[in-house]
Amino acid sequence: MSISHIGKTIRESVTLKLNEKAAILRAKGEPVIHLGGGEPKSKAPLDAVLAASGLLDSGEVRYTPADGIPELKKAIIRYTEDFYRWSPAPENVIASGGAKQALMVCLQAILNPQEEVVFPAPYWVSYPEMVKLCGGVPVPVTPEDGSFIPRLQDIEQVVGSYTRAVIINSPSNPTGAVYPESLVAEIVDFCERRGLYLIVDDIYQRLLFDGRKPMNCYDYATDRSDNSRLVLINGVSKQYAMTGYRIGWAVANRRLTEVMTIIQGHQTSGPSAVLQHAAVGAINGVQSVVETLRTTLENNRNVLVQLLRSFDGVRIVEPGGTFYSFPDFSAYNKDSMALSDLLLEKVRVVTVPGVEFGREGHLRISFCGTVKDITEGIERMKWALDPNAPNELYIGERKLVRDWS
Ligand SMILES: Cc1ncc(COP(=O)(O)O)c(C=O)c1O
Repeated sequence: MSISHIGKTIRESVTLKLNEKAAILRAKGEPVIHLGGGEPKSKAPLDAVLAASGLLDSGEVRYTPADGIPELKKAIIRYTEDFYRWSPAPENVIASGGAKQALMVCLQAILNPQEEVVFPAPYWVSYPEMVKLCGGVPVPVTPEDGSFIPRLQDIEQVVGSYTRAVIINSPSNPTGAVYPESLVAEIVDFCERRGLYLIVDDIYQRLLFDGRKPMNCYDYATDRSDNSRLVLINGVSKQYAMTGYRIGWAVANRRLTEVMTIIQGHQTSGPSAVLQHAAVGAINGVQSVVETLRTTLENNRNVLVQLLRSFDGVRIVEPGGTFYSFPDFSAYNKDSMALSDLLLEKVRVVTVPGVEFGREGHLRISFCGTVKDITEGIERMKWALDPNAPNELYIGERKLVRDWS
């Protein structure tokens, strides 16, 4: 069969694949603990559900403008005013099928073949593949000091004449690292000086711990005109626990927003009307849902970090936000794929191999599940990896016997 070059080189999303694998095992009755997930377990806000069902009940579910219904754009504008002290015009806003599509149409709108997009590693698994889908070249940049937070010099070193854009994501998937304000200021300034697009992926914006405040990239932008190359990405998936609703957005200059809208119009005609109404409900509704989720996640983070700190040989940097941790397991196995496979096969715990995020020897362990799952999952992992552990472990009625070393 003849498949395009892009089709042949594009890699499957490992996180989606693991979800599928876990679901199949669960359906067979296997006692799987999913510590690889990327979605909060709380319910979608009632305001979102009511808004969506209201439109469904009306029986009038139609095409919408490709860049979103006016009510949703209005809600996004108010959100941007509240959280970023920036007041975009409706022509600066596009609602998409998740932050993922907002990112994708943005890249399609700005990239010429072979142009480069720089982003710090560890990175979200989709950045390299999205850039490749647009014919561009992904340029991950690993901080020289091996940490999770780059210095401006790290970024400067890889930026060249082909560089078109920089993507930052803080708090970060997969590490939970939060960039210092000074770094964000430096990156905004650098991109302005070099005429680069700066794509700020703020999807975990308010999921911050230990009293941290959300960062605001606009605070450091000197170009507030319609020539600004700052693109803000956000959405309802993570903060409102609405991953399945698939609504995200971008705030960008008018010309770019216009082109993104044209592209999206041909791709999907815009996001579903029902789900756009749900997003309006969430954004305009009771906001305590976000704080309730944030508090739960902070508690889960504390439990997980404590368990991992008592894990001999594992090095963990405490996440400052999100629902991901990215501990270093290289003392057990430098091959994160092999380690992740072993944990799933032997003790039915799902983790995501660090190599998929551009950093070997680590595993991404999520804490968006229950404290019970986190505790039991880490206990099983300890048992699997500790050669001095007892030879047997019971999971409910099931007896596991160690047949590996
Ligand atoms: C860093 C990052 N950006 C964007 C997304 C996509 O979010 P959405 O569900 O709105 O498409 C994710 C989802 O995992 C993510 O982790």
